[in-house]
Amino acid sequence: MNGGDVTEEAGEPVPESLWLATTSSTEYEPLPGDRRVDTAIVGGGIVGLTAAIRLKEAGHEVAVIETGRVVEGVTGHTTAKLTSQHGLRYDRLCSTFGREYARQYATANEAAIDAVERRVEEDGIECDFRRTEAYVYTESRSDGSDLLDETRAARRLGLPASYTETTPLPFDVEGAIRFDEQAEFHPRKYLLALAAAVDGDGSSVFETTRALDIDPGRQPRVTTDRGVVVADQVIVASHFPFFDRGGYFARVHPKRAYLLAVRISGEPPEGMFYSTATPPATIRGAPVDGERLLIVGGQGHEPGLDGPATSERYRRCEAFARERFEVESVEYRWSTHDLSPVDGVPFVGRLGPTTRNVYVGTGFDGWGMTGGIAAGTILADLIVNGSSPWADVFDPNRFTPAASAKALVEDNALVAARFLGDRIRTALAGSGTLPSPGEGTVVRQGGKPVAVSRGEDGELHAVSAVCPHMWCLVEWNDAERTWDCPCHGSRFDPDGTVRSGPALEDLTDRSG
Ligand SMILES: Cc1cc2nc3c(=O)[nH]c(=O)nc-3n(C[C@H](O)[C@H](O)[C@H](O)COP(=O)(O)OP(=O)(O)OC[C@H]3O[C@@H](n4cnc5c(N)ncnc54)[C@H](O)[C@@H]3O)c2cc1C
Ligand code: FES
Repeated sequence: MNGGDVTEEAGEPVPESLWLATTSSTEYEPLPGDRRVDTAIVGGGIVGLTAAIRLKEAGHEVAVIETGRVVEGVTGHTTAKLTSQHGLRYDRLCSTFGREYARQYATANEAAIDAVERRVEEDGIECDFRRTEAYVYTESRSDGSDLLDETRAARRLGLPASYTETTPLPFDVEGAIRFDEQAEFHPRKYLLALAAAVDGDGSSVFETTRALDIDPGRQPRVTTDRGVVVADQVIVASHFPFFDRGGYFARVHPKRAYLLAVRISGEPPEGMFYSTATPPATIRGAPVDGERLLIVGGQGHEPGLDGPATSERYRRCEAFARERFEVESVEYRWSTHDLSPVDGVPFVGRLGPTTRNVYVGTGFDGWGMTGGIAAGTILADLIVNGSSPWADVFDPNRFTPAASAKALVEDNALVAARFLGDRIRTALAGSGTLPSPGEGTVVRQGGKPVAVSRGEDGELHAVSAVCPHMWCLVEWNDAERTWDCPCHGSRFDPDGTVRSGPALEDLTDRSG
């Protein structure tokens, strides 16, 4: 994605995701005290709610424990393409995991689209679901052979892939892979219907209830800030596993991306699009109040490394949109991060070798719509039936030397670089200049790194800059006005309140 100039005066977009802005907030009660259920599920995103409904339908009593409100995490900030086309993936999967595992990955993700369609039809869920094509396209001639290799690999796995040189996009491409019969939907409309179906008849959704710890014995216990839930098994569906007995801190890393919903002259192109550029661009249409807006975005990056500020990344997304479409206005903007696994395949199954009754689904690498539905389905099947036809490829306790070893070393070098870079940055930072309104900076105070920000009203906040999860230093996000942790993605309000985990505690106040 390149960043040309924004030539027209930008309006003020709603700084919120289209999905949140077009649905009402939920109001489930907190956990009222200690509770006994068959399965406790920590996290009310796409993984947690998919597992919950499937388990309830299989006769389980479940408790969904959500620290905030359901479907307001990453799932509330996605692009919501339902597709098994995950960039260029299958050729690499075949060579690192082998054909059989690549087929499991492909089939699980294709089945997820069918599962949503079936549920939408059977339960009459109005969530703007519709089938459409997905394209991964290139504007660079040098990517042509990669696209052909990927098309061949995908077809061999039974995916509905074909190579094409034309797309519905209003600009020229050098080549593209088309996947037929993929789908788009409104993730909150779909998942809020699932949450409503989960709650009742012995099963419950508990909001504003934060899981603090799990005792993973024969009968696991989830300790929350409202009481203890005892269960036969626990699913950790908290995006980054807040309970990390599987070394996930070193096996997944966050990747942040930015989205705009814009009004363009005429109809958005039919289909969903993803580019091979670095960083990739993503495009799809979405119905809002009788018209179709265009969602366009990208600018994906690993937080914590040098690069433009958040506001500049939004500006580049807008420049990309204006270069390729006749943009009339920018209506919404939002951003979020997903977790990329070291070997490119999510971790779904038993959380660790010593935690028999604790399960996890994480590391969707930017593709957790189908991936999250597949994960919820696999976890429910493992719990109810003891097996799933797709479990092996996603097994969190796998080791795939060809895929993992180099990536693990590189990933941990990256985390170390962030950690050391943090220290050097603050060691060099003086406490001289205080931030202007809307800005934040990390300074040293008495030898300790302090995150100082100033609100638009001029009020200063000073909180510890050390993330309580694993002690990386937070960074100022100038568009969302939050402190973000580059290591595993925790986010905090300017006054230090934790907005999303894995951190469980606030940044401590340093204003005194
Ligand atoms: C910019 C962007 C665009 C994307 N677009 C697509 C796309 O088009 N298609 C696609 O397939 N995928 C896409 N993805 C990926 C997809 O959105 C995610 O993989 C998926 O939403 C992750 O779902 P989840 O259930 O794991 O996490 P979440 O939705 O974040 O759910 C986890 C929940 O757990 C709760 N929680 C956390 N800690 C605790 C705790 N201690 N106690 C209780 N609750 C807790 C959180 O509040 C949250 O509600 C995109 C990702 C990004 C970053
Ligand atoms: S150190 Fe892990 S999220 Fe901050």
